[in-house]
Amino acid sequence: MAKKLFIKTYGCQMNVYDSARMAELLAPLGYAPTEDAGEADMVILNTCHIREKASEKVFSELGRLRADRRERGAEDVIVAVAGCVAQAEGAEIIRRAPDVDIVLGPQTYHRLPEMVARATRAHAAKQWRSDLPARGAGLLDTEFPAESKFDFLPLASESPVSAFLAIQEGCDKFCTFCVVPYTRGAEFSRPVARILDEARALVAAGAREITLLGQNVNAYHGEADDGSTWSLARLVRALADRIPDLARIRYTTSHPRDMDDDLIAAHGDVPALMPFLHLPVQSGSDRVLEAMNRQHGVDLYRRIVEKLRAARSDIAFSSDFIIGFPGESAKDFAATMALVNEVEFAMAYSFKYSPRPGTPAASMDLQVPEAEQDQRLQELQAVLNAQQQDFNRAALGRVLPVLLEKPGRRDGQLVGKSPYAQAVHVEAAPGEIGRVVEARITDLGRFSLRGEIEIPPANFSPRGQEAPLMEASA
Ligand code: SAH
Ligand code: SF4
Ligand code: F3S
Repeated sequence: MAKKLFIKTYGCQMNVYDSARMAELLAPLGYAPTEDAGEADMVILNTCHIREKASEKVFSELGRLRADRRERGAEDVIVAVAGCVAQAEGAEIIRRAPDVDIVLGPQTYHRLPEMVARATRAHAAKQWRSDLPARGAGLLDTEFPAESKFDFLPLASESPVSAFLAIQEGCDKFCTFCVVPYTRGAEFSRPVARILDEARALVAAGAREITLLGQNVNAYHGEADDGSTWSLARLVRALADRIPDLARIRYTTSHPRDMDDDLIAAHGDVPALMPFLHLPVQSGSDRVLEAMNRQHGVDLYRRIVEKLRAARSDIAFSSDFIIGFPGESAKDFAATMALVNEVEFAMAYSFKYSPRPGTPAASMDLQVPEAEQDQRLQELQAVLNAQQQDFNRAALGRVLPVLLEKPGRRDGQLVGKSPYAQAVHVEAAPGEIGRVVEARITDLGRFSLRGEIEIPPANFSPRGQEAPLMEASA
């Protein structure tokens, strides 16, 4: 009988990708995924360290899992903590949660099958050695190994319609607020051939959209078989040219510094590259950007947005913002508001600055009082929410190509994505999943749009039709 594996994923898409890869690596050991922690034989918490309370969340989840194991008399469940908290606080996890079997960092999960085998032996030994302490196996692996985990991954045999593909990992930028360079390690680009193989396998397994992932995805500089180095733009063009059934390409997260002209041009001349870009700016104040070590000013950001809009008039933007960075004055915050009003974002994430242990900003003077942070964040979010609503409202009555991804909540309904990553519900049969249909947007819900299919996908063309032009906001 298959053993059950429950993975809880926190944090960014990279962790979502990694969780799926861990599940694949454990399948040959007889583990099948479950959504229910209460029936799991193994639990993996794939953690995120980006803002505070991250590790406290992990410890409280471990406590809940412990209580659940006791309640159902399942003391031999294997418990693993992976991801960025594991990398940053591995030894502390083993000390504070001695029942944890495995702690492994983001760069060592290819060693998971071996670690699970050892943990399984340790659990078995406890059955007949009553003198052994009632603890976990206590295995810790947070190395940055010489070998690449990616070389150990099987090619996908199953895929959602919209798939992730990690092409780059780690970061050398060292923004003063950020833990990623420490938890994920140095910037690393996967070789071109492996990426093309993985993309082909994903599409053969049902993917119609691939989002290329990396902490600094547009810093990609992967080696090709002929020894040349490929940029992200070149990779995007090759994916679009060589895999005709790949309807849509996206990439995230990109850094303004690495938006080169060729990549900007690709937005104009690669129809499969979707007109929606997550390009975090963090702040609209040059002074704050400098203190953050973002390595660019507000002007560069403005110029990139302009160039992208010139290359693809209907492109829409999303961003991340950090509010209340040390030293952020009322004037700096006003500059952020001004930039937001100027660019008009389709969507954005905004966070209060959170001091992270070991990062330079955590020890900077002039930390902004929490009440002030709260107030600024509210003000910013009010505008960002209004912009998002305006953007969605501008879709009303328009016909958009929608890639149908999965069943919706109601019978007879499917949910898909517009080119701008808006969720769209339409009435359609399950057999339409994986197709791009032309849908007229009829209603705005709280979290999604509703549409009616205009052109039934009789002659299946994976790329659908060109996205109609649409202004970024009403
Ligand atoms: N590589 C991406 C961001 C990765 S982290 C980039 O450079 O844009 C994702 C987001 O978390 C960041 O964009 C930032 O807005 C937020 N973030 C990172 N560290 C933070 C901190 N210490 N406090 C608050 N937000 C933070
Ligand atoms: Fe963190 Fe900056 Fe690197 Fe993004 S670019 S991952 S924010 S250090
Ligand atoms: Fe979090 Fe690590 Fe991603 S800290 S945001 S899971 S890179």
